[in-house]
Formats: sequence, C-alpha cells, structure tokens
Amino acid sequence: MVDTEKHEQNFPSKLTVYVVVCWILAAFGGLMFGYDIGISGGVTAMDDFLIHFFPTVHERKLHAEENNYCKYDDRYLQLFTSSLYLAALVSSFGASEVCTKFGRKTTILVASVLFLSGAAMSAGAQNIWMLIIGRILLGLGVGFGNEAVPLFLSEIAPVERRGAVNILFQFFVTIGIFFANLVNYGTSKMHPYGWRVSLGLAGVPALFLFIGSIVITETPTSLIERGNETAGHITLRKIRGVDNVNAEFEQIKAASEIASQVKHPYKKLMKRSSMPPLIIAILLQVFQQLTGINAIMFYAPVLFQTVGFKNDASLLSAVITGIVNVISTLVSIFAVDKVGRRILLLQACVQMFISQAAIGAILLAFLSTTGSLTKLQAAIVVGLVCLFVMSFAWSWGPLGWLIPSETFPLETRTAGFAFAVSSNMFFTFLIAQAFLSMLCNMRAFIFFFFAGWILKMGLFVYFLLPETKNVPIDLMAERVWKQHPVWKKFMD
Ligand code: BGC
Repeated sequence: MVDTEKHEQNFPSKLTVYVVVCWILAAFGGLMFGYDIGISGGVTAMDDFLIHFFPTVHERKLHAEENNYCKYDDRYLQLFTSSLYLAALVSSFGASEVCTKFGRKTTILVASVLFLSGAAMSAGAQNIWMLIIGRILLGLGVGFGNEAVPLFLSEIAPVERRGAVNILFQFFVTIGIFFANLVNYGTSKMHPYGWRVSLGLAGVPALFLFIGSIVITETPTSLIERGNETAGHITLRKIRGVDNVNAEFEQIKAASEIASQVKHPYKKLMKRSSMPPLIIAILLQVFQQLTGINAIMFYAPVLFQTVGFKNDASLLSAVITGIVNVISTLVSIFAVDKVGRRILLLQACVQMFISQAAIGAILLAFLSTTGSLTKLQAAIVVGLVCLFVMSFAWSWGPLGWLIPSETFPLETRTAGFAFAVSSNMFFTFLIAQAFLSMLCNMRAFIFFFFAGWILKMGLFVYFLLPETKNVPIDLMAERVWKQHPVWKKFMD
C-alpha cells in the first residue's frame, strides 16, 4: 500500500479532455460487441426473418409442441447466433499479432472496418450465405476489437484510475446490449424488413469506432515497444497532461527492453513463470460465462415466455434487465479502484448463487411442462433475474476483461490476452449453442447447474486470485505474483 502511494506520486497526471475523448471513442468497441450480443435473439424471433432464411424453422414454430422448456430448441438457429463467436475466437489470435506489430490503434481501425462490412453484408443479405458471411465479418471484428480495446484502455489509464477506465469497455457493452434490445422492440413491428434495420444499425456504432480509431492516440507502451521512443514520450506527456513523465517513461522503456528479448511470445507464455496470469485470465473468462449470464442476455425474452409471460411482457422484462445491467456497471466503475477486485467478485458470487438457486427452486416447485407460473411467481422470477444481472454487472462482467488486461507483462501481453478473448468466445459459443437444448433437457435444474459453478468460482477467487488494484501493470510480477502463497512457486 505504501509502495503504491509512493508510486502514484512518481507518476503524476492530470485529466485532459483529449484523453477522456480517447477513452470514450475506444470504448465504442464494447458497444459493437454488446450490440452483436443483444441483437441476434430478437432477430431470430422475427417471423419475417425466419420465413426468409429458415423457412423450415418457421414451419416448426407454427406447429411447435407446447412444452414450456423445449419449444425454442433449434440447432440451426442457435448456430446462426453462435457462429459469430467462433469467428471471434479464431481472429483474436491474428489480432494479437497485429496488436504487437502495428499497435493497438491500428487493430481498432481494422476492427471497425470489419464491423462496417459485416453490418452492411448482413443487413443487405439476399441469401443464407451472405447472412453467414456477415456474421463471420462481425465475429472477426469482435476478435480484433475485444483484443485491442481493453488493452488500449488499461495501458492508457493512469494507474489509480485503471480499473474505472477499463470498465468503460464493459459499460459500453451493456449499453450496446440494451440499445439492441430497444431496436429489436421497434423493428419487430416493421414488416417485412425490420430485421434488416436491426442488423444494419450495427453500422452506427461501427462508424463511431472507425472515426474514433483515427482520432485516438497510440498507447505510449505500444509506441515505445515498437521503437518509437520520442513519439512515446510526447504521447505520454499529452495523455498525462503534465511535462514530467520521466519516471513512467523509464518504467515502460525497461519493460519493453525485456519484451524485445522475447522473440516468441507464445513459447514464453507456455513457460512455468507465465502460468499465473495465463491460468487466471482463462479461468476468469470461462467462469464469467459459466455464471449463466448469456443464457439471460441471449434468451431473456424466451426465458420470460417460458415462465408464462406473453410476447410483449417478456420483451419488456428483457428491457428491464437491460437497464439493470447498464446501471449496475456504474457501481463497479466507482468501486473497483477503491474496494478492489476481489471484494466485488466475492460479493457477487454470493448474490448470484442465491438468485440462480432461487430461480431453479421456484421453477422446480411451480412450473410444470405445460402450465405457467402465477403472476406473482413470475414477477419474483424477474426480480431474481435482476438481482443476478446486477451482481454480474458490477463484478464478473467488467472484471473478466479488466484483470486479464492488467496482469500480463509486456512480452506476453497481447498473446496472453488473446487466450482470454478466445476462452470467452469459446464458452460464449458453447452457451449460445447449448442453452436452449440444456433448458429442454435439464429443465429447472439448469439453474442449479449454474449455481454449482458460481460456488466453485467463489472458492477460486478466495484462494487463488490476488488483488491487483493500484499496482502498476509493469510491476505485477514483483508486487503480486511473487508475493502470493501459491503463485510465487511458479515464478523464477
Ligand atoms: C460478457 C458477455 C455478456 C455481457 C453482459 C460481458 O462481459 O463477456 O458475454 O453478454 O458481459 O453484459
């Protein structure tokens, strides 16, 4: 603690308008990701869309057997939703190369161009292939954006505000999801091409990101790492708003000298001493998905219909959870650099466990295969879903991205973060692909399944996750890993 305070004095900084503009513009990458998460559930529920691309699914929907837990189970529709995440999984590794060789700014530019073309292709799709190519382009964009934006934000933020600045990414993700839900609500009444509007509007945040990628600065770390020391020094002065940045500059220079000796980051990443941040980055992302959050983000309207809401009421309930998601993220922006990462994660485990287990218990006790819940029971389920989303939004949502972006040393940072992004994408894919089938087969027990994982992740945080609040990125090894009772055994 004392060390950190001393360190903060060494790294003076003032807020400037330019740096805040950079944070916000880069965070539009999060808005794109959120929009893509939020839009597909509503679009695949639109009859016009189904008739155009999935006529057999539409036919089946008309004659669906009335089983609460199974009526929406369809492999092909799930594949449409989840294909984006497979593309993102693959592209995050390419993005890590681009990020190291050409910088964070260029990687964000590439992401925005991919998003723009993906939005145009899917909105204008004449056949299923165009639709799928559109999804793949968007997925490639997510891989590039999610790799570069959290790293960009963590590197450009002053240490004492790093958590808050990085969480702007997640804040924009939640706005993107919410915005997509509202758009779907409006376009579902526009026949026959409402779905084109939904898919095409992704172009708006993509355009902001494109403009942003031109306006924003490169991070000093990336400039110095690529040999542009003078530009790095000038940029550091510009974003810190003060002239005396020598101490921070020297620290980044030292980190990049070490990094320049590592020719094969992936080989280095497989070394024992790289295991602590790597294991933590992967597990945080895997656990983030095993909370069950995307069962709700992708399928909230379906879930609410399952418990007996009519179409409009269930869309409205999805909008309510969307608002809760956005507002609760603000809590973590304010709390993360004060109370720290661990407290937020642990508190949320308790709240998420209780809400998932309670939802499971209510459905098990009161929802038969063909009946529905009473109004009161259904309202309690919506309340519990809100409690769940709220705690996710101030913990595992933002911190799943923040912690992996702040714990790798420079030499393995982009490669290590690519593992975080791809683990997220793989498990998002699995949930998107499997949830409706799991709901059909496991019924109410699916909520106990998620609750069981939440218990495990609580133990993981308690025993294995060190606190990283206020520790400069380039001093993680000394101050965090080498001090931790388990992880210090991995360090050279
Ligand atoms: C997760 C997404 C999730 C979103 C919900 C993000 O951090 O990566 O999978 O849908 O949070 O707000």
